[in-house]
Amino acid sequence: MKKKLLLFFLMAFFVVNAFSQSNFIQNIYSRNYLNLDGKWHYIIDPFETGFRGFQGAKADENENLTGFFENKQQRSKSELIEYNFDKSAVLNVPGDWNSQDEKLLYYEGTVWYEHAFVFHPQQNKRYFLRFNAVNYEAYVSLNDKKLGVHAGGFTPFEFEVTKKLNDGNNFIVIKVNNTRKKESVPTDNFDWWNYGGIIRDVMLAEMPVTFIKDYKVQLAKGDLKTIQGYVQLDGSDLFQQIKISIPEAGLQATVATDANGKAVFSMPVKKLNYWAPENPKLYKVFITSNKDSVKDEIGFRTIEAKGGDILLNGKSVFLRGICLHDENPLIPGRPRNISDCKMLLTWAKELNCNFIRLAHYPHNEEESRIADAMGLLLWEEVPVYWTIDWTNDSTLRNAQHQITDLIERDKNRASVIVWSIGNETPNISEREKFMESLADTAHVLDETRLVTAALLTHTTGNTINVDDPLGKKLDLVSFNEYYGWYTGGLPWEINTFNFKIAYNKPVVISEFGAEALAGFHADTSTRFSEEYQESFYKNQVNLINKIDNLRGTTPWILIDFRSPKRMNPDYQNGWNNKGLISQTGQKKKAFFILKDFYQQKEKEYTSRQNH
Ligand code: GCU
Repeated sequence: MKKKLLLFFLMAFFVVNAFSQSNFIQNIYSRNYLNLDGKWHYIIDPFETGFRGFQGAKADENENLTGFFENKQQRSKSELIEYNFDKSAVLNVPGDWNSQDEKLLYYEGTVWYEHAFVFHPQQNKRYFLRFNAVNYEAYVSLNDKKLGVHAGGFTPFEFEVTKKLNDGNNFIVIKVNNTRKKESVPTDNFDWWNYGGIIRDVMLAEMPVTFIKDYKVQLAKGDLKTIQGYVQLDGSDLFQQIKISIPEAGLQATVATDANGKAVFSMPVKKLNYWAPENPKLYKVFITSNKDSVKDEIGFRTIEAKGGDILLNGKSVFLRGICLHDENPLIPGRPRNISDCKMLLTWAKELNCNFIRLAHYPHNEEESRIADAMGLLLWEEVPVYWTIDWTNDSTLRNAQHQITDLIERDKNRASVIVWSIGNETPNISEREKFMESLADTAHVLDETRLVTAALLTHTTGNTINVDDPLGKKLDLVSFNEYYGWYTGGLPWEINTFNFKIAYNKPVVISEFGAEALAGFHADTSTRFSEEYQESFYKNQVNLINKIDNLRGTTPWILIDFRSPKRMNPDYQNGWNNKGLISQTGQKKKAFFILKDFYQQKEKEYTSRQNH
């Protein structure tokens, strides 16, 4: 026991120090920035012809790069150059390349992007080039100067470019590669489309020399009466007085920073309108330093697991959820703007959901802001999915980075209540240390939210066992089960099943689902028919209602989504059709079964809360 505690605190110390400063500017959309979205030139390069290395880690930052990073222009008719970005086709940024160019639909490899822009940097300002997500690996340069490399397709990264900007013409060249690899996160096998490219916004942020880089403003863990947090400065003038004010709540604090430019604060709450799905109240929060200020819209709520209950603002809540991929089926492709994101979340609301599991990777950050305003609770996850390379240290570091960046990015969002460290990871010894360290990282970085993972079950006779040892590290017992589709016979044959759950914790079933091709009608035993899916949901609802600590569920899945693993020519054609809504937005019969179930649950919990 003593050794375990020592290990935990050592881990806590490592995590806090290794990731003490956020890797990117908090709340970038409310800062001063030049939007660099638009048409970017691209060159497809399956043989990496344009890549002559990145001069290795320690190269002189100002040394010119070679290969396509140079963005060479032919100056004389006899000069031999075998590429020309200016004359190359363009892709929309943000946007995956698969849905924009037919020949790239299945493409996995390198694509080069180039974007020229005119900019006049100001004195006494600092500049950061920010990418909100690039799948998967990005080698980034500005004006033929190396900026750096980022691996991970779904979290933001940025580079300071103050010294690398030209006064006038500038150009960015970025080599993007989405090749799947065993050692990556996700690994080389997953059930969604491997959309490649610059899939989210690109910005050039202008900041004061010393600016407010990061902050957290939230209610203390399980405490409705204390708002606490910190503000982190970045720059040379680190000793400052920082003001945090929430005018509408009559709250204000002025605190001094320490030698590292960090100010920690705590404000006793007088009266607050707490955020909840049925009351998504957001407060304007202002943070001011000597030369900088930032405004945010933040909701205040507490979330806890107590025994078998989930308490939102101290009251028991049922999570009426659904799973969602970050894909606009109407494109089909990654969401390209706020309205795409809004459409997806609105469909969940129509299902009478108060909760969404954003599977299996960090979604567009706009979705958590929309959920804040719409009153939707969120489960956010990192793509530690199926058979990760457990014993590879760089894989662990990558996973640590992703969970850290996700928590850093969305830590001020009231809607986000759950951090998930993975999905369907096998219960084998090599995986234990890996997953336990991720659980520790999440708990250390954010004690105010719940940490979980979508676990696997195993069956003995008609008993569904949930006893994965990782469960001891988690705040919720979440598991995926497909009885009535992949196992357990036909939908009505699962009624004899029951659950044996090793933990007295709140249970959230993170997946169950069955496929139906929208518009295909037959009897309830015909696979892929709407009637089969409808019967599946009817029987699943009865099955899961047997669980005493059932406090939520997120069936698989709200909308049909693309997957290269689904090639049945009659019913799939590259789509996983377990959606309750089809790729054209059509609601299937099962949609209404779940909606009814959620109406019942809503009534049940409203009356619980009133007693
Ligand atoms: C798995 C997995 C999903 C997948 C689903 C399915 O459990 O978590 O990513 O798409 O099942 O088989 O449809």
